[in-house]
Amino acid sequence: MASITIRNLDDATKQSLRERAARNGRSMEEEVRHLLRETSAPAAVDEPTWPEPGGGDAALAGKQILLIITGGIAAYKSLDLIRRLRERGASVRPVMTRGAMEFITPLAAGALAADRVFTDLFSREDEQDVGHIRLARGADLVLVAPATADFIAKMAQGHADDLASTIVLASDRPILIAPAMNPVMWNAPALQRNLRQVREDDVQVVGPMRGEMAESGEAGLGRMAEPLDIVAAATHMLDDRPRPLTGKTAIVTSGPTHEPIDPVRYIANRSSGKQGHAIAAELAALGASVTLVSGPVTIPDPHGVSTVRVESAREMLDAVEQLLPADIAVMVAAVADWRAAGESGEKIKKKPGKAPPPLKLAENPDILKTVGHYGKRPSLVVGFAAETQNLIDNARAKLERKGADFIVANDVSPETGVMGGDRNRVRIVSAKGVEEWPEMDKQSVAARLAQEIAARFQTAMA
Ligand code: CTP
Repeated sequence: MASITIRNLDDATKQSLRERAARNGRSMEEEVRHLLRETSAPAAVDEPTWPEPGGGDAALAGKQILLIITGGIAAYKSLDLIRRLRERGASVRPVMTRGAMEFITPLAAGALAADRVFTDLFSREDEQDVGHIRLARGADLVLVAPATADFIAKMAQGHADDLASTIVLASDRPILIAPAMNPVMWNAPALQRNLRQVREDDVQVVGPMRGEMAESGEAGLGRMAEPLDIVAAATHMLDDRPRPLTGKTAIVTSGPTHEPIDPVRYIANRSSGKQGHAIAAELAALGASVTLVSGPVTIPDPHGVSTVRVESAREMLDAVEQLLPADIAVMVAAVADWRAAGESGEKIKKKPGKAPPPLKLAENPDILKTVGHYGKRPSLVVGFAAETQNLIDNARAKLERKGADFIVANDVSPETGVMGGDRNRVRIVSAKGVEEWPEMDKQSVAARLAQEIAARFQTAMA
């Protein structure tokens, strides 16, 4: 028999081959021959069974997601991502690169996914059980989170030198990646070139976000999108539910406003924009053509939505007026009620020995009220009421005063953790009465609200 020359294997693969050969009492060459003999024998393979999906009735229910975890510090967030996907009824099958295993263990990923974790292109067991080609094709979506700069480069170049890159290359399924890396790497021309290439190859990208890096003192664009934002992007790609809002236009405001005092200081509030952004994405998922008018936030623009960024309440009103008329308006932004009267063009200086300067305030325009009483008012106008006391009474008063069809009332007392947090408990206050919803994450509130809007919109139109 001709001899076998082993070349072009990376050190890690060589090492695992060496260990395997030693375990089986064979030479490396005999071990390779043995492996080849076994893998070329026709395998009696059953279709791989996906793990039991979690509960949930959203667009992800019953969907199979192959989650590729590559080696970055953000890999720890992938564990939460698995949980969030399963909560919504998806099955998750994790694939981990060697680098990912430096950050989290296959045991943790497998326990959360309730499935085995695939790691090795040359694993006899894995190949007989499922095979990388079927791993690549069996899913509804291939999701890479986090996607490192190196992995994006491999994707752009079509490398297939480990299980994860081979799956991506061999896949004919939709692919979504959530990049995560240092901001300098993110801005590097080579990375941006590779990103353009993968986008051109029809790969969808979610994030990254701006913020603090794991490395101390580093901040900028490069943090992996939050698990719920990745879930939203995946949902958008996989959603095959009916789209009752097709042909309708919607305006959503979201986030805080920043009201300048001078060129370096401003008045702001704690709104993160999570709820408004999620509502925009869910309305888009139901087929509406959505424009999101967002104040300054650190979360990524939602998928499938056109986003206009503004700073102050007056800019937000201008942007909203430009978009009217529209069919639906959902005003979620935590608009500052007041701005500094007479913004200073220069930085206000401390005057030693003098009292602090007074901060005079002027009232901002009320955007919801303007839209609710507009000449060509949208058919459905929805407002929010963020309250710390007398929730229902205050919401009823706002319904009336602002000309809304219904108000989503939420208690934002500090102990609720709603402001900036991921969960929300709302009541729907309308002329018909008050409907209480259980506590849910903001994504689920958004999904249910979008359904409610679609239902009310259709009733109003009937
Ligand atoms: N809103 C707005 N423009 C403003 C203030 C609020 O469009 N200048 C909208 C918000 O987007 C939300 C609703 O009005 O949909 C209620 O916001 P909230 O801050 O709870 O109410 P306020 O009108 O500010 O009343 P108050 O401060 O007295 O609670």
